[in-house]
Amino acid sequence: MKAFITGVTGQDGHYLTEFLKNKGYDVYGLVRRSSQPRSIPDCEIVIGDVTDTSVVDDVRAIKPDEIYNLAAMSHVADSFKIPEYTFNVNAMGTLNMLEAALNVDAKFYQASTSELFGTEPPPQDEGTRFHPRSPYGVAKLAAFFMTVNYREAYGLRAYNGILFNHESPLRGKDFVTQKIAEGVARIHLGLDDHITLGNLEACRDWGHAKDYVRGMWHIMNDNRVEPSDYVLATGQLAAVKDFCAFAFEHVGLKWQDYVRTDKKFLRPAEVPSLCGNPSKIERLGWRREYNLRDIIEEMVDAAIERFKP
Ligand code: GDD
Repeated sequence: MKAFITGVTGQDGHYLTEFLKNKGYDVYGLVRRSSQPRSIPDCEIVIGDVTDTSVVDDVRAIKPDEIYNLAAMSHVADSFKIPEYTFNVNAMGTLNMLEAALNVDAKFYQASTSELFGTEPPPQDEGTRFHPRSPYGVAKLAAFFMTVNYREAYGLRAYNGILFNHESPLRGKDFVTQKIAEGVARIHLGLDDHITLGNLEACRDWGHAKDYVRGMWHIMNDNRVEPSDYVLATGQLAAVKDFCAFAFEHVGLKWQDYVRTDKKFLRPAEVPSLCGNPSKIERLGWRREYNLRDIIEEMVDAAIERFKP
């Protein structure tokens, strides 16, 4: 089996490459040209970009069985600053990848997101109305329905994985969980004396990226059911301040003594509360292995290791 992954240098790309290689797949990863050093997983590298239609030729040359479209401008707050770029990568990029998949009749996984639900109250599932709250969310909504459309119009075996937040030690440092984990580690090591965050009341359903890449494969590979869309979530709701409390507690500190807030980290429009109902994917046999405490402890411990002198 051959898999083609876009966004292979990201957190999920790393774990998915490892997961698929362990299953015996040949993995090809689309990597954007960059002069910055980056961590690239061990796979066949294809230099290209989802916004450049040459990707259709790249895919035709490889003829993968499965395409995982993980490439995105994934930072919600930044999408307000660069909305056009965000739309181009997240929506038009997906369209290019759907064309590429159609060309070789590959199965297609679209990295969709709980950001689509926006203001709709939890628990959210596959039947919940969409109301995105950012250029990121709006672009991902276009990509979601483009994927549905290629399935309905052309019979493409296309799947949206509607993933709630998922974290790990490989998480980018601008996402709130890694920002907290690294802040806690630096305070614990005496390198800093506080961290500054935005909205502490926002609630999320945080799972582990390892569980979720396994879910991606699961979504694509159950031959008992027709292609459709699936929520991947834990069903556990926690606020940003709860995440802080658990993370500081892990090193024996009280979060209130170290966390400050600054309006500059607030978003023009916020998604207040996301918590998913994973019943549909659980009916196919997927179960998460990690809970929130496991994730926080793993992230804080890994950050301590990174910053240790
Ligand atoms: N990034 C960040 N930095 N977020 C903060 C901060 C801060 O200093 N302080 C509070 N927050 C709040 C944000 O306002 C948001 O409500 C919440 O913490 C989570 O923010 P992020 O970690 O940036 O993630 P996200 O929920 O916006 O988006 C992530 O999850 C989506 C799935 O629901 C990203 O991975 C998206 O790409 C993904 O689609």
